[in-house]
This record gives sequence, C-alpha cells and structure tokens, in this order.
Amino acid sequence: MPESLSAEHYSPIVIDHFQNPRNAGRMEDADTEAFVTNPVCGDSMRLFLRFDDGGRIAAASFLSSGCPASIATSSVATEMVTGRTPEEAEAFTRDDYADAVGGLPKSKVHCSVLAAAAVRNAIEAWRAQRTSTQA
Ligand code: FES
Repeated sequence: MPESLSAEHYSPIVIDHFQNPRNAGRMEDADTEAFVTNPVCGDSMRLFLRFDDGGRIAAASFLSSGCPASIATSSVATEMVTGRTPEEAEAFTRDDYADAVGGLPKSKVHCSVLAAAAVRNAIEAWRAQRTSTQA
C-alpha cells in the first residue's frame, strides 16, 4: 500500500471508497451536473445527478481527478444523496461527508469540500434549468 494510503493516514472506509469508488463514471442521462475545482490544491470533480418524477435524486455519479480523500468523499456523497430530496441533499455539509468516511486527516479536511460544493452547484443548476423551461 503506498505511504499516502496507509492506515495511519486514512480510515478503512476512506481506503475502501478510494479503491472501490461507488458510482464512478459519467452519467449519460443526467438531468444536471456540476464541475468544481478545489481552490486549495487545484483538484477537480464532476458530479452528475438524475431526478425521479417525484423530484428526488434517483442516481448520482462522479468523475474525479482528485486525491484519495476527495475520491472517497465524492463516492460516499453519491450514496448519501441518492433517494434524497434536493433540500435534504444540499443540507449535507463537507463535515457530513468526511464523517461518513470515518473522518479525514487534518491536512485533508479541505478535500471534502469538492463533494459538498458539487452537490449544491448541481442542484442549483437543476433548479435554474427547471425555472427557465417553465417560464
Ligand atoms: S489534495 Fe486536492 S482534493 Fe485532496
């Protein structure tokens, strides 16, 4: 295991989600997406969301060029937002995603910001798109 992935640095949940990311990949039939870049390090993530007829998030997926912590929190975020209303999904904070992977090392706390920002931006874009098509 590379030093940067050692259990001294990361929880077993981070390592699991990094090595086996859930919902990784582009979603061809997404209703909305968001691309975010971490101002601290320049890493980036693209999030895709699809909504069901009732307005809940039916599916989420992501592409990432980030570090293990950002990939793990993005992966867990796709699981956490699926089945949620937009309001519930955007209420999740970076700390919620970091907690869900068992916490992050201090130097990696900023990495969970990508998932939180992407969820909020994608939902905002979805709302804007709906408003403009209804107008
Ligand atoms: S170091 Fe860039 S997101 Fe983690």
